[in-house]
Amino acid sequence: MKLLVTGGAGYVGSVCAHVLVEHGHDVTIIDNLSTGNREAVPAAATFVEGELREKAEPVLAEGDFDGVVHFAARSLVGESVEKPEIYWQDNVVGTLTLLDAMRTHGVENLVFSSTAATYGEPETVPITEDFPTAPTNPYGATKLAIDHAITSYAHAHRIGATSLRYFNVAGAYGGIGENREIETHLIPLVLQVALGHRDKIFIFGQDWPTPDGTPVRDYIHIRDLADAHVKALETNQPGAHRIYNLGSGDGYSVREVIDTCREVTGHPIPAEVAPRRAGDPAVLIASSAKIKDELGWNPTRTELRTVVTDAWNFSRGLGDRAHSARRG
Ligand code: UFG
Repeated sequence: MKLLVTGGAGYVGSVCAHVLVEHGHDVTIIDNLSTGNREAVPAAATFVEGELREKAEPVLAEGDFDGVVHFAARSLVGESVEKPEIYWQDNVVGTLTLLDAMRTHGVENLVFSSTAATYGEPETVPITEDFPTAPTNPYGATKLAIDHAITSYAHAHRIGATSLRYFNVAGAYGGIGENREIETHLIPLVLQVALGHRDKIFIFGQDWPTPDGTPVRDYIHIRDLADAHVKALETNQPGAHRIYNLGSGDGYSVREVIDTCREVTGHPIPAEVAPRRAGDPAVLIASSAKIKDELGWNPTRTELRTVVTDAWNFSRGLGDRAHSARRG
């Protein structure tokens, strides 16, 4: 297929772009490089640098695109609480521009990078797709708004779409891992402590209603996540919008993640309890039964130790230069 991959220089987008190239697809990437890395773009892909709002229409106008895999977005819970305006602009307005360009140019196959943050604070776990959606932060609210927009575009304009609601994506594949200029995610930050680039990790709250008082998350390996995108793209049906959760099905607390990082790295990794972070839910664990049943998705890297080991091997390979901007 000839595919447009938006946000294909970011962590998730670039790994998925590589896997799509491995599957023989012809990939064009739009990315503004605000958080992505040019070097993460597959050599075989065509790269267009710029804002999705400006580039989506002219790129799709070139013709012959069979589908779009849409990653380009702002994606930090804490930042979205402080700066909601950039989330509504970049995520919602950006996606509406893309959907209109797809409609104008007859592109009818879409896979969208949605999130567990659309559910908010669930009353029970694991979370299935029929749970109420009540986001606790603007990031989740923008992704939910987009899911609603996609549903109506799919029904009215014959687009075949799948939203994949990611839980906590981590790990590395094909030499690509988490390598952001400003890092806020737990596993890469903990590994920066093990590398000696940070003194300690802050635990954001120890008074949550969880067994050890720290928040529980479901960590999904980036390669397993990428496989789901390929399956979704290959099975989309015109006029239908499917929504699937993507997680490993196991929950680990912040303390358990830090302990696993200590085991994998052999480093003591000092930790200090800090106040809660705004917008964080206590527990997020996925049920991925629906995508396994319907699409035959079969994750193979579900152990937290595997996720952390792959992330660690990637982080060690980055060397001092890549981390120099992030010491603190
Ligand atoms: N945490 C710390 N200290 C840190 C960083 C994180 O204690 O220095 C905690 C957070 O409070 C949270 C957990 O570690 O409880 C995981 O935090 P991350 O920042 O790694 O990830 P989030 O759960 O906030 O969000 C991620 C993605 C979202 C997605 C969500 C879905 O960034 O896009 O997972 O589960 F919506």
